[in-house]
Amino acid sequence: MSQPAPASVGIDAVPEPAGSGTAPGDEEITFRTRKWVRPEDLNANGTLFGGSLLRWIDEEATIYAILQLGNHQVVTKYMSEIEFVASARQGDIIEMGLRATAFGRTSLTMRAEVRNMITRCSILTVDRIVFVGLGADGRPTPHGYTTITFDRDRIPAGAAQPD
Ligand SMILES: CC(C)(COP(=O)(O)OP(=O)(O)OC[C@H]1O[C@@H](n2cnc3c(N)ncnc32)[C@H](O)[C@@H]1OP(=O)(O)O)[C@@H](O)C(=O)NCCC(=O)NCCS
Repeated sequence: MSQPAPASVGIDAVPEPAGSGTAPGDEEITFRTRKWVRPEDLNANGTLFGGSLLRWIDEEATIYAILQLGNHQVVTKYMSEIEFVASARQGDIIEMGLRATAFGRTSLTMRAEVRNMITRCSILTVDRIVFVGLGADGRPTPHGYTTITFDRDRIPAGAAQPD
């Protein structure tokens, strides 16, 4: 692991490797996870329940933070304003995208977007989600990273390995 970052480091747009699932024009965000909107995900209005969407985003962001910081013990520290831009309906396929925007000493800041996979219309945006990596003592610990990885090179030690 490299030395801890001295301060929060902003990330410039880095080209995605070929075949990573990023469409032209989407260089800043990678849409990886897709969800199919089911009856149990609906609100009383018959559209996608915001709580379900936020749970999916938080889970997706947690996995992203684990893989970027190389630490299983990450927690959500902060979420900025959440804008529900448009709704989704039962049967819609939506996709979630995340992009690290800054690496701090112990934190990682990312941006999230959810869109309709077919129409590409935006459903939700969150400008800043901050995760903090914790040590064994449960306190913030320096992660030492300053750039995004597009690989699996930071999978935390102790994670299950294939035989
Ligand atoms: C995460 C936690 C350990 C951090 O403790 P803390 O005393 O605030 O720690 P620090 O002040 O050292 O800050 C740690 C990092 O968070 C950042 N941070 C703190 N408050 C922040 C805020 N309001 N917004 C954005 N970032 C913030 C700091 O800038 C620092 O980042 P850096 O090291 O990259 O510069 C503590 O707040 C906590 O346990 N919160 C609950 C987390 C939780 O349960 N989440 C929900 C379930 S996952």
